[in-house]
Amino acid sequence: MSRSAHPAGPRHADVLPEGHYSAPPADLNALDPKVWAETVTRDADGVLTVGGIDVKRLAEEFGTPAYFLDERDFRARARAWRTAFGGDADVFYAGKAFLSRAVVRWLDEEGLNLDVCSGGELATALSGGMPAERIAFHGNNKSVAEIRRAVEAGVGRIVLDSFQEIVRVAHIARELGRRQRVQIRVTVGVEAHTHEFIATAHEDQKFGIPLAGGQAAEAVRRALQLDGIELIGIHSHIGSQIFDMSGFEVAAHRVVGLLREIRDEHGVELPEIDLGGGLGIAYTSGDDPREPHEIAKALTEIVTRECEAARLTTPRISVEPGRAVVGPTAFTLYEVGTVKPLEGLRTYVSVDGGMSDNIRTALYDAEYSVVLASRVSDAEPVLCRVVGKHCESGDIVVKDAFLPGDLAPGDLVAVPATGAYCRSMASNYNHVLRPPVVAVRDGEARVIVRRETEEDLLRLDVG
Ligand code: LLP
Repeated sequence: MSRSAHPAGPRHADVLPEGHYSAPPADLNALDPKVWAETVTRDADGVLTVGGIDVKRLAEEFGTPAYFLDERDFRARARAWRTAFGGDADVFYAGKAFLSRAVVRWLDEEGLNLDVCSGGELATALSGGMPAERIAFHGNNKSVAEIRRAVEAGVGRIVLDSFQEIVRVAHIARELGRRQRVQIRVTVGVEAHTHEFIATAHEDQKFGIPLAGGQAAEAVRRALQLDGIELIGIHSHIGSQIFDMSGFEVAAHRVVGLLREIRDEHGVELPEIDLGGGLGIAYTSGDDPREPHEIAKALTEIVTRECEAARLTTPRISVEPGRAVVGPTAFTLYEVGTVKPLEGLRTYVSVDGGMSDNIRTALYDAEYSVVLASRVSDAEPVLCRVVGKHCESGDIVVKDAFLPGDLAPGDLVAVPATGAYCRSMASNYNHVLRPPVVAVRDGEARVIVRRETEEDLLRLDVG
């Protein structure tokens, strides 16, 4: 079933164009556990399986393209985050990565809280049964209606993102006869990119209130004066798909610095600090993410150390992982439609989805891997680009990948690590219908978000 490597064979050396791809993997049929969900494996016939069900059966029953989510893996990852922080911290799953009512139920059962950032996510969270006090409401421009709904529902915290919002939330809460618990989101002057962070002199972005120039301190001053809100902490989110903990270190240092200033000026020790999400996952074998327990240990140590230095009682920590919980738990299954070898360049493999179900490659130049899923093959590796069916040449799912040279229309291919920011950022571009999300567990598969239909599309088009 496996074959030996053919890394520098003349066939590639002669035809490989300029690019950043690596050599073909030693075994094209192998599954790197780093990028695949826990229960994904190949059965005796070499067919990819998840939760004990093979993808040929899944494709027959649910069609392609489709996202298949390993429920056991999701729950295990959620639990790992929960137990890593123990009782001393709160884990808020960032719903923007992927949210559905089934997911809300799993989170509730596994003891996680939920971060939502729009009225739609709030509605899904409440409808899925998440207790309101375990919901945090985010966003840089929440509407009055959204704020009202969140306060009425009794969300545990609203994360305030601007001076206007401080007044707006306080006003709405007063009107409703409530005292809303809030955090203030600050920008700490650390800008985190995929694999590195760059310390910036000024905070040139739309989120949060800058620490620089005393703006965050002024926001705290105002928040403490308003009786519609109760300021419970400071929030910082430095970016996404981060591997390097040093950005968090700088953020914790600066946030604790603000807590100290607040204590010195107001005699108040705020009880909470939220360090946001952003922890990276493996999209390809080259990525080496940290485990939740390592992250928990590092963050707890940083905050404790900084607080001891500032003679502050260590506040309760919260974190907001999205990608790191759901990203690795799902893969997208596509059917190959056409295979177009371009001499001296690469082979274009067109699948039945594309940028409407995974915009990340086009938008962020994201890297993914791909395998032939419906069978194994001993054919020579060929440099391929997996592209979608949309009318746009940037419609790329996997930029550079080696696939077996006998790949043919009708084969199924699977792209791992598509659980986060793929379905949640899916679109109807070209009026392509958004794929379903199917949860698989212990030999059972269940649609948790159904496939869109033409009726769905036409229902919005009122003629
Ligand atoms: N908390 C806050 C306040 C956030 O803004 C985000 C992500 C998270 C938590 C969760 O971050 P995570 O752990 O999932 O990295 N669409 C992009 C990612 C955008 C993230 C936006 N905020 C992508 O596909 O890479």
